[in-house]
Amino acid sequence: MPLQIESFEAYRSAQKKSKHNPEQFWAEIANHFDWQRPFKEVHSGKMEDASTRWFGDGQINITENALDRNLRERGDQIALHWEPNDPNSEGQSFTYSELHRTVSQFGNAMRAMGVKKGERVVLYMPMVPELAIAVLACARIGAVHSVVFAGFSAQALSDRIEDAQASMVITANAGRRGAKTIPLKATVDEALKENQSVQNVIVKSVTSDPCFMDTSRDVWWKDAMLSTEPLAPCSAEIMDAEDMLFILYTSGSTGKPKGVVHTHGGYTVYAGYSFANVFQCQPGDVYWCSADIGWITGHTYIVYGPLLQGGTTIMFEGIPTFPDPGRYWAICEKYKVTQFYTAPTAIRALMACGDEHVERYDLSSLRVLGSVGEPINEEAWHWYHEKVGHSKCPIVDTWWQTETGGIMISGLGNLSPQKPAHAGYPLPGIHPVLVDPEGNTIKDNGKEGLLCIAAPWPSMIRTTYGDHERCLNTYFRPFPGRYFTGDGAKRDENGMYRVIGRVDDVINVSGHRFGTAEIESALNQTPGVIESAVVGYEHEIKGQGIHAYVICEQFPSESESIEMAKAAEGQVILGIGKIARPDRIQFVAGLPKTRSGKIMRRILRKIASGDFDQFGDTSTLLDPSVVDEIVDKAKRLI
Ligand code: WTA
Repeated sequence: MPLQIESFEAYRSAQKKSKHNPEQFWAEIANHFDWQRPFKEVHSGKMEDASTRWFGDGQINITENALDRNLRERGDQIALHWEPNDPNSEGQSFTYSELHRTVSQFGNAMRAMGVKKGERVVLYMPMVPELAIAVLACARIGAVHSVVFAGFSAQALSDRIEDAQASMVITANAGRRGAKTIPLKATVDEALKENQSVQNVIVKSVTSDPCFMDTSRDVWWKDAMLSTEPLAPCSAEIMDAEDMLFILYTSGSTGKPKGVVHTHGGYTVYAGYSFANVFQCQPGDVYWCSADIGWITGHTYIVYGPLLQGGTTIMFEGIPTFPDPGRYWAICEKYKVTQFYTAPTAIRALMACGDEHVERYDLSSLRVLGSVGEPINEEAWHWYHEKVGHSKCPIVDTWWQTETGGIMISGLGNLSPQKPAHAGYPLPGIHPVLVDPEGNTIKDNGKEGLLCIAAPWPSMIRTTYGDHERCLNTYFRPFPGRYFTGDGAKRDENGMYRVIGRVDDVINVSGHRFGTAEIESALNQTPGVIESAVVGYEHEIKGQGIHAYVICEQFPSESESIEMAKAAEGQVILGIGKIARPDRIQFVAGLPKTRSGKIMRRILRKIASGDFDQFGDTSTLLDPSVVDEIVDKAKRLI
């Protein structure tokens, strides 16, 4: 079986095969990769207790597949183009040989500083090539990378460093985003104030801004590199298939963000396989994903997927609207991009800026357009299809999650039928089911249900770092024998899936996941605030906006509430970062609670979405009059 499927019939038969003989199916796919020691066992363990293991007796290092293997046939081909924030400054391009050499040199530098296999390294960096290099160097030497999006606050960064017990942090003095410069090293210093685990910080100088360096701990990237022999080989650490590759923190319904764990073997196989099939890249193609490596999309589909397939990938430092809203299309034209992958929020934002920005550019190189992160609404789908793809490019609406490691439901390039706002069919080997709240399988098409995955796949979450119980409770216990996604979905009469959105207390703002609980806990730190409840509401550009209901010790007057809202907002910025700033803060005297003290979020969601009457059954409310009071104020706020 080839790695890349070539027709929809071939897709159908691969899917059938994966159902009847999953072990043989996955073994054939896995054998397309280079193993340090071949596996005999394909899969073991159970979904029930998340003890699943893939290729468990095999050994593999993802970087030998992403780098070394490509040296043989395409050492001089560009592996990575880096497009800087400022279109007038110089970019950078790395051939596979150059990338291999640079990763090796940095891997050696990390080894020389004492980083060992299994140690956790936190990366807090802007979108510069050194981020991809550091990711790959960690994997090379068997260190576990944990990239933290550079928009997170010192507190959020510190929580992640602490949870991972990282021994090293890699950062930059500052990052550039559009016209702004964001100090990063200062944030790291703040985050490390009470830290005991971190031995060294490596700092890449990205801008000319000075930053504080603690000589006992901090080393410039340049000096770390200089301390090694530039051409010395860097042996790829021998990795058991189930050894950890990375931890990526993501938000859930409750508590603090959890560290999703992925492993070398299963992740290599599924990242390479899904990339090859969804984007249908051919030799010579130039693929661009506009995500940030701080999120899973950047891990799997900027760095690993494209390199595993021997492709050319682009990394962009900036933002879609700088210096003007034509920037994405300028980049597509400049590099003759063939596959472009972005988020609905970016499409909607650019759509709102006017067609003239996209019409100015030659986009004839584009062949496949991708969407990820949230449901794409029909209007945005059509604009993307017509204005960007000139009605000739299929749109692959890719549904997946940090926990799934790779794309689960999506069209495969131009092979699959398309339907606006529908992710479509699962990838071969992926077996989704819809269930009702009691866990009964919904067999009929045309119905809505809770989206689960019925069979294990290689890149499924292994655990939540340091807390396996939490992993079980969140994903594997709600519906025994299945992985529960937290999403609601609908299957149409042809079996195509449309993912509707989260059914839990996770909100998706511009494609970024936040738990309502983590925002509430930040809000509750505000002096004078007693309690808060946060819900999402439909937002034209961001997909969802954040509406916070806040109770204060003393109900603030009109003028006090401006100050109070600012203070509450400040707490969210401190606790999480600007990206989680509430769009609306509404002060309330009480929250709709049941007699057992549970907040009825259903009502709060309705109010936030401007739906002020039909609240359904409110008879279990302790004090139904609070609802009227909230509605009254919301009417004025919205
Ligand atoms: C949502 C991002 C509809 C979904 C890769 C999921 C989507 C969450 C889609 C995961 C899509 C992602 N259509 N919804 N094509 N893609 N989602 O972990 O709610 O940041 O559960 O992974 O985003 O977000 P995460």
